[in-house]
Amino acid sequence: MKLERFELERFQSEWEHRVEYNLSESGVEPLRINELLQTQDLKNQLLEIQLGYSQTNGTIQLREAISYHYPGTSAEHILATSGGAEANFLVTWWLHRESPEHDELIFMIPNYMQIGGIWKNLGGKVIPFKLEMVNGKWTPDIEGLKATISRKTAAIAICTPNNPTGKILSEGDLNAIIDIAGEHDVWVASDEIYRGAELQGNKAPSMHGLYNKTLITSSLSKAYGLPGLRIGWIVCPTPEVAKELWTYSDYTTICPTKTSDWLATIALQPKVQSMIEERTRKVVSENWMVMEKWIASNSDLLSGLAPEAAAICFIKLKDGINSLDFVHRLLNEKSVLISPGDHFDTPGFIRIGFGSKQEYLEHALERISELLDTYR
Ligand SMILES: Cc1ncc(COP(=O)(O)O)c(C=O)c1O
Repeated sequence: MKLERFELERFQSEWEHRVEYNLSESGVEPLRINELLQTQDLKNQLLEIQLGYSQTNGTIQLREAISYHYPGTSAEHILATSGGAEANFLVTWWLHRESPEHDELIFMIPNYMQIGGIWKNLGGKVIPFKLEMVNGKWTPDIEGLKATISRKTAAIAICTPNNPTGKILSEGDLNAIIDIAGEHDVWVASDEIYRGAELQGNKAPSMHGLYNKTLITSSLSKAYGLPGLRIGWIVCPTPEVAKELWTYSDYTTICPTKTSDWLATIALQPKVQSMIEERTRKVVSENWMVMEKWIASNSDLLSGLAPEAAAICFIKLKDGINSLDFVHRLLNEKSVLISPGDHFDTPGFIRIGFGSKQEYLEHALERISELLDTYR
């Protein structure tokens, strides 16, 4: 049986390096190694790294640096992975094997479709848990969740802050979800990769510490602007679960690369981490002003809310404009890449990533306006 494709990733992979303007990225303009390593001594240390295999579940230094950001955990609770993608893959595979008699995954929609896609490809059934627009706000359908959870449910998979909407689930939302999960004794997988990229205010609440059957996945790719390092992680409720998941990663990538493990350990040091987070938040808030103005100037054809976090805006096109057609026309006629809502199971929308340099963003938006003119 052929695998169902991960449409978002395949579409991006095919075009992102060929277009003149790529607004399909959901992170901020990536950092350079030179910006991350602030002293000559560190740069010299980088050049001296011997390119052997690294510790397969992440070096103790890296896992300690990650666990610092999750109070109450130690290095033993953490599995370092090759990006958030591997973290999500391992969590989904593990959940599927752990629950052979429960073949349903409740999966937040809209979403980055990786976890749901893997679950389906493993032969399981995916049940949507909707984020809906209620009174102009993205709102989780808690009543719907209560109605769909059953003896067949293995886990609930959420993404907060959410890709593509930028919605942050409140503490109240998280508590409502764990109450339901707890009643049915099911796992919660919480992808929190955009935490730290808030548009304003406090850091988004985490599932960490709220419920003992939670697996948190994250990485340095979005809020840290370091996707090229390919470093992600899973925060497990116990060292035993972390060890089990490690067995799975022996079959996938063996280990994160040695240079990335070392660079990631530096990025996660509290001082460096807060410098990076400040940079990310600055990019998100300054570039949002550009986006907001652009959305207002095209309000006859589209509408979009400010994301609560992440440099992405999920924009509703006027009824009658087909989102897939629009994105393909933009690609072919204007050499600009964005993502259609269809790739998040939500047709009628487009997702624009606005984390790039401002001048680049403005030029790309001008081209989208030119295409919009043809619908006027
Ligand atoms: C919600 C979410 N999780 C995971 C990933 C994969 O992240 P990484 O680049 O760290 O593998 C992405 C990438 O876009 C994402 O949006």
